[in-house]
Amino acid sequence: MALKPDDTVCFCFKVSLQKIETFCKMEKPRYASQISDCLSAGTGCGWCVPMLKKLHGEFCEPYTPPWRSADVQTQPTREQNATEVNEDTWASGRQQYLAGKKNNKQ
Ligand code: FES
Repeated sequence: MALKPDDTVCFCFKVSLQKIETFCKMEKPRYASQISDCLSAGTGCGWCVPMLKKLHGEFCEPYTPPWRSADVQTQPTREQNATEVNEDTWASGRQQYLAGKKNNKQ
């Protein structure tokens, strides 16, 4: 039997399933631990933390950090071997590297 929208998920802070679902849809927390911003859910005894993690997976879009995105993975890195890239790709990687350095200085 599943929890209903008005059922309590976090007993310590009386946070309902509906409140957590609304929070996830509105705030789009990247990590399950950020659900604690919803009326402190999960920050008391800890009983509900596994449920909050499952609800995060159910209600929130999966987050992929930029360094794991497909774009970044296909960009050359300074650590690649000479046999792994052609000159154009290598030069393009350097341009992106220099642009990143310039942006970090600003
Ligand atoms: S039931 Fe959620 S922290 Fe205790």
